[in-house]
Amino acid sequence: MANSRSGDSITDRLVRVLETFTPTRTVQTAAEIGRRAGLPSSSAHRIVGELVAAGLLERDDERRIRVGSRLWELATRSSQALRLRQAAMPAMERVQSRVREHTQLAILEQDEALFLERLSAPGSGANITRIAGRLPLHASSSGLVLLAFGERELQERILAAPLPRLTTETITDSAVLRRKLAEVRALGHAVAPGFIETVSTGVAVPVRDEAGTVVAALSVVLRRDDPEGPALIELHAGRRLIERALGFRD
Ligand code: PHB
Repeated sequence: MANSRSGDSITDRLVRVLETFTPTRTVQTAAEIGRRAGLPSSSAHRIVGELVAAGLLERDDERRIRVGSRLWELATRSSQALRLRQAAMPAMERVQSRVREHTQLAILEQDEALFLERLSAPGSGANITRIAGRLPLHASSSGLVLLAFGERELQERILAAPLPRLTTETITDSAVLRRKLAEVRALGHAVAPGFIETVSTGVAVPVRDEAGTVVAALSVVLRRDDPEGPALIELHAGRRLIERALGFRD
């Protein structure tokens, strides 16, 4: 790909522009995009203009920019994530209607848990998860499942890096995290009481594809003092439904 005068490729610049959008920052001006992407104003306006013309970004009446439906369409059309989400939806609805708390599906993405779907009932407790948002592996129940059943290299990379503290309950000691991961593998589920916000307990189970590889985590977010037993029964029933839809036979 041709390089700009500053040496970074056009693809680098496009990715930097798109990455300025986050789950909580969905609308920006072209100038804000340029500043956050580290691009000169003229380049930012040109790239944004081209992306708007291609339909990948959209401009509203106040000339502010948001991600275009065309980008969503292209990204979603043939992705593995869509297949997984579709296989999981009936089971997620079942879990959500029985547990009556937030129910979510996450995959591993760039050393974090990326949430593909979240179902919530009115009156469910607190939850910081967003669809297409991410949580750290060491501090969420889904993350712990994805890490515990993930590749050895991933585990060693996470265990070797600092483990940021999010609450007083977050595991920040690598020896403690190593023991927790062994426990998650032995039990077949993860319970994370107050690890990411003090008022909630995350409970997650692994989901396997037809080859038996763990490809996702199915989880619920309970109020901190709720018992996790009933939720675990529903999570395991739900994950078996998803695994059957994905072709896994246990
Ligand atoms: C978790 O999976 O541990 C979790 C996720 C979101 C929350 C709380 C806990 O808000």
